[in-house]
Amino acid sequence: MSIEKVQKAINRLSNLKAEISDQFEELKAEVNRRFASHAKRRDDEIFRPLPAPTGLDMSLMDALKNRRSQRNFSNEPLSDQVVANLLFAADGINRKGGKRTTPSALDWRETDVYLLKANGIWLWVPERNGLLFCAMKDVREETYLLNAQLTLPPLEIVFVTNYARTRSLLTDAVETIAPKIKKAAVDEADLREMRIRACHLDVGAKLQSVYLAASAMGLACVARTGFSAEKIVAALRLKPDEVVVAAQSLGYPAKSILDHLK
Ligand SMILES: Cc1cc2nc3c(=O)[nH]c(=O)nc-3n(C[C@H](O)[C@H](O)[C@H](O)COP(=O)(O)O)c2cc1C
Repeated sequence: MSIEKVQKAINRLSNLKAEISDQFEELKAEVNRRFASHAKRRDDEIFRPLPAPTGLDMSLMDALKNRRSQRNFSNEPLSDQVVANLLFAADGINRKGGKRTTPSALDWRETDVYLLKANGIWLWVPERNGLLFCAMKDVREETYLLNAQLTLPPLEIVFVTNYARTRSLLTDAVETIAPKIKKAAVDEADLREMRIRACHLDVGAKLQSVYLAASAMGLACVARTGFSAEKIVAALRLKPDEVVVAAQSLGYPAKSILDHLK
């Protein structure tokens, strides 16, 4: 490879790094605006890097065989490694260009993944493999319509669709070009419905991916749409074009009554 080519590659890499870093600063500022939570916090409290995902070694066949919904959780917290593995399954970067372990329509990457834990609300940042602190409030219980559980799961994952992200140059181009090729107008309502359907399917893929990772790690897990969207919207301070599509509860399965003691 010539020196010029190497130099160009280095420049491209440093531009990419700068881009990601700029977006991260923007994200931090946005979360700060929303939650006003960072003002008195040190940098290492605002961002919690997670370990690289590892140890999901069960065969896919066994993970599929073990996959089930379980609703009886132990109060034992999940380690950062377990959380990192779950998030890698849900929305980890597995290729160049920031592409993810789960698909999204037109590569919109419109789903934000929030974690609700005893120690607060966190936002998953795939580009950094870590969690951005949002607020020191335990809102897990608030997400339930009816809480019939003995113990709250140590982790609630909340999948939020950001519809603003489904508007991109490429999407607009596809939507403008398609009717020209078909020589027929595409109905606005149809397009809207198509977007909503696609976003919900994107979350569905994440749910199953997390179910399989949970199965491989022997965790109890259940997908949920039975939650109070209104309460989650308030807790996460979501904007009008951000919609809570699903939640997923995770923890170790409770084995005895002692697992429920606070
Ligand atoms: C989109 C979706 C929403 C769900 N919502 C809830 C829920 O709100 N509460 C609940 O206890 N289980 C919920 N479940 C879990 C289903 O009840 C469960 O998948 C079903 O009973 C089949 O059991 P299995 O997952 O063990 O195969 C949901 C599952 C899906 C896929």
